[in-house]
Amino acid sequence: MRKVKIAVLVSGGGTNLQALIDSQKNGVIKNGEIVLVVSNKETAFALERAKKAKVKTRVVTKTGKSREEFESDLIKVLRDDRIELVVLAGFMVILSERFTSTFKDRIINVHPSLIPSFCGEGFYGLKVHEKALEYGVKVTGATVHFVNEIPDGGKIIMQKPVEVLEGDTPEILQERVMKQAEWIILPLATEKVCSDILKGEM
Ligand code: GAR
Repeated sequence: MRKVKIAVLVSGGGTNLQALIDSQKNGVIKNGEIVLVVSNKETAFALERAKKAKVKTRVVTKTGKSREEFESDLIKVLRDDRIELVVLAGFMVILSERFTSTFKDRIINVHPSLIPSFCGEGFYGLKVHEKALEYGVKVTGATVHFVNEIPDGGKIIMQKPVEVLEGDTPEILQERVMKQAEWIILPLATEKVCSDILKGEM
């Protein structure tokens, strides 16, 4: 059966990557295959998770490069493996229009809030949860969306709400949002996009 070739781009711990790997094993993701994991950080624990799952890894760092050079290197690595879908899973780099239009409608991202709240430039990782708690929202969540040139501005694919509880710290809230939302909707949205890509070929 033909499967969409997926690359997962990471920068850190890689719990979302793990959720994708597990979902491929248990059949939630069936129309796609993770063939490559790319990190912009050599020390990202996500790379260990990929190696353990026997997925090919590449490191592309930005150090000493212009944004254009960095993105060209990234595009080359993705083209070398004929990647058809790019999944950003905790990839802490904002991509330019040149990059996003190269993979138009073929890049998705998971963001730890209900977009359009707490998103855009400067809102990433734990900061998102700090801002949500600061504002005092009672409900937050996660969003999976297509990536275009506007940070967190592409079309929404899936969202899931998560309750904010009395006494939450940013760390506690982050963990709940991951468990109850991100690790569920990222694999589901990935499968949906893969299946839509294959349907488009029929
Ligand atoms: C996740 O919460 C992800 O949604 C967030 O970073 C974390 C990465 O964790 N991404 C962003 O904030 C992107 N704007 P992980 O490395 O364990 O998957």
